[in-house]
Amino acid sequence: SSLPELQRDCLTPSRHVLEQCQSFGAQAQDLSALMSRIGLAGKLIARRLSRAGLMENVLGFAGNTNVQGEAVKKMDVFANQVFISVFEKSGLVCRLASEEMAEPYYIPENCPIGRYTLLYDPIDGSSNIDVNLNVGSIFSVRVQQGEDQEQTGADLLQNGRQQILAGYILYGPATVLVYSLGKGVHLFTLDPSLGEFILAQEYVQIPEHGPVYSTNEGNFWQWEDSIRDYVRYVHRHEGYTARYSGALVGDFHRILLEGGVFLYPGTRKKPEGKLRLLYETAPLAFIAEQANGRASTGTEPILDLVPTSLHQRSPIIVGSREDVALVESFIQNPR
Ligand code: AHG
Ligand code: MN
Ligand code: MN
Ligand code: MN
Repeated sequence: SSLPELQRDCLTPSRHVLEQCQSFGAQAQDLSALMSRIGLAGKLIARRLSRAGLMENVLGFAGNTNVQGEAVKKMDVFANQVFISVFEKSGLVCRLASEEMAEPYYIPENCPIGRYTLLYDPIDGSSNIDVNLNVGSIFSVRVQQGEDQEQTGADLLQNGRQQILAGYILYGPATVLVYSLGKGVHLFTLDPSLGEFILAQEYVQIPEHGPVYSTNEGNFWQWEDSIRDYVRYVHRHEGYTARYSGALVGDFHRILLEGGVFLYPGTRKKPEGKLRLLYETAPLAFIAEQANGRASTGTEPILDLVPTSLHQRSPIIVGSREDVALVESFIQNPR
């Protein structure tokens, strides 16, 4: 950003949200406070990750399996709890829904209740934790519809266009926070000496096309023929390069900045794919569309999908408009 140094250093995510809302009404204040809490959670997780090898009980497995059927890492448990601790007494939320919890966590009666629900993937890319590679957190905020008396969370099962705020934190060489309120995508870098996320880039746009295709080719024989034909096409044509880190947030962030396409299609074993709609593919689809990119299941926009369950999975093809369209053309015109 071209702002003078000092002025720019005051543009934290919560301050930026107020500017984005162009109002100082109650909802603007709430969204700004939500963003501030998300930033705090990110800082607490970044701090723990940076000391992982130096502390006991940070790395390795927790010993249990989550609702996804995955072996849970200690860092998954810690990060899940960080978001609960940071939001529980904020007065901003009524529920928290996470990859790591089978059912939403309802804020206890003795705490102030808000109208928002935070849906989140506390650590995305858990397989990278113990080898010190990039991981992320993904967040999505929805407004509660109705009263949810029976605490079923049924009103959460709406399409991704109901998200009012979405984004992610990437714990890489730098810790970066990316968010959108539906008015463009904005990028902040954590300045550890300040303990603040500082605005780095506004209105990020995914290039129309990029050289990267990002997918786990270990699933090659699990895919539909059409996906195999797409990958054979990029193998045969100049100008493509494969990048895959095993952590969605890192792979997506590369596509956001440099263009290309990330795809996690359905497989024979998991026809709906591996990634979860409410706190992985829908928030990233929101970001992608706000950055002038595309996010598709292969046949329809991810943001149009109406989930039938909290942990529902969806295929995802996301990135540059041209590259997503190319993958869709193979899917929609199989040979
Ligand atoms: P999580 O660690 O939150 O369970 O997510 C892991 C996901 C995602 O980050 C990544 O893109 C994908 O799993 C990698 O799956 P494969 O190992 O099957 O490629
Ligand atoms: Mn997981
Ligand atoms: Mn994840
Ligand atoms: Mn996760």
